[in-house]
This record gives sequence, C-alpha cells and structure tokens, in this order.
Amino acid sequence: MRLRHIKNAQEVLHERSDLVVLDPIAHQGKWRDLYPKAKALHLEIGMGKGQFILEMAKRNPDILFLGLEKQASVLKKAIDKVEKKEDNCWFILGDAEELLSMFLPQEVDKLYLNFSDPWPKKRHTKRRLTASHHLEQYTVLLSSQGTIEFKTDNRHLFEFSLRMFTEQGWILDELSLNLHEDKQDNSESLVTTEYEDRFVTKGNIIYYVRIKKWKE
Ligand SMILES: C[S@@+](CC[C@H](N)C(=O)[O-])C[C@H]1O[C@@H](n2cnc3c(N)ncnc32)[C@H](O)[C@@H]1O
Repeated sequence: MRLRHIKNAQEVLHERSDLVVLDPIAHQGKWRDLYPKAKALHLEIGMGKGQFILEMAKRNPDILFLGLEKQASVLKKAIDKVEKKEDNCWFILGDAEELLSMFLPQEVDKLYLNFSDPWPKKRHTKRRLTASHHLEQYTVLLSSQGTIEFKTDNRHLFEFSLRMFTEQGWILDELSLNLHEDKQDNSESLVTTEYEDRFVTKGNIIYYVRIKKWKE
C-alpha cells in the first residue's frame, strides 16, 4: 500500500517537469535561467505543501522562488494545490544535506526556514536545519548581502538556533518573540505556512528571526 503511494507520487512529479526540478545538481549555477528576469533568488528549505512559497511568488514577480522538499509524497500534495503555475516559482525534490552540490557559492539571496522539524532529542541535533554544519553551508551559498528568515513555534529549537547563529557570527537583523501579535496592525504583509496556520489556531506563539552576516 505504502509502496503504491510512493510510486504514485514519483509518477506525478515526473509528469510535472514544468513545475518540479528532479535533478537539482544539473541546475547548479544555472538556476536563474529558469526565470531570467529575476532580480533575486529566494529558497525555502523544507517547503512542505507549498502555501508560503506560492503566495510569495504571486506577491513578488521580480524574484525567482525555489522550494526544496525531500519527501516526494509531500511535494505531490504541493503540486495538487497549484491552480496556476507561476513563472517565477519552482519546486525541487532534494535534501538540504546536498545544498552545496545544488547551488554555487553566493547563488542564493535569501533563505527561508519555516517550521523546520525540531528534532528534540540530543542525539538528533545534527538533523536540525539550524545545526552548525547547515549554517556553514548557508554561509557559502548566500550572496554577500544574503539573509535568512527563520520561523518556528518551538521554543527549544528557537533558543538552540539563536545560539548557533550567534556562535557562527551571524547578526540578528530583526527578532520577534510573538510574530503574529507584533504584526497585528499589518497582518496582510504576513505570508503564512500550513504549519503556522495550524499552530496559530491552536494558540501557539510564533517566534521569528532574520539574520545576516554583513554589517551596514
Ligand atoms: C514541519 S514541516 C514544515 C513544512 C512547511 N515549511 C510549513 O511550515 O508548513 C518540515 C518539512 O521540511 C521537510 N524537510 C525536513 N528536512 C529536510 C531536508 N533535509 N531537506 C529538505 N526538506 C526537508 C520535511 O519533509 C517537511 O515537509
């Protein structure tokens, strides 16, 4: 049953080569060819079902948006939700562990980490997308003025990540300990994810930070 489910997802992904990149390594250094008029390239790591990246692409037609997701079955759900393919938005089937084979140094202008899996057990620390080896990769692939936006409802992951960011010399550019309360007056500017909507409905607080390596 499970195998049939996975095969179905792979088939759907192969049929949607207009929307899904299945061979990201072949695109290293050439991502902007997908949308030559892009002024910048933004990448969401762990895009899930795609609500955030699709809405961001609609709102920002001058930016190329790429969403990376390692699970084919999740990506299939994202594809099912696409009513109209945006020219500036692509999904990538791939694992963040291989980012440096997918992107050349400085090829990405902004990274989004939205509600990354918290991996609470200490022995799984390296799997967190804000663990030190991941941050080292992000440093390489981000452009000189690149930034990372990170959102989570998980206090433990947030504190761990802040520690990692500061240990590795990242500068905190903007920080919120209650994003939805802070943005109340300007809620239309907030683009949410599927997990975010679920957590906010449950009454969870959303933590947010934007970081960068460069000084003004
Ligand atoms: C908790 S979900 C959040 C999904 C979405 N960002 C949201 O906020 O609704 C985390 C997602 O990240 C994906 N993911 C986890 N580790 C990944 C990795 N190393 N590379 C790519 N995707 C990953 C998972 O498959 C999952 O779909």
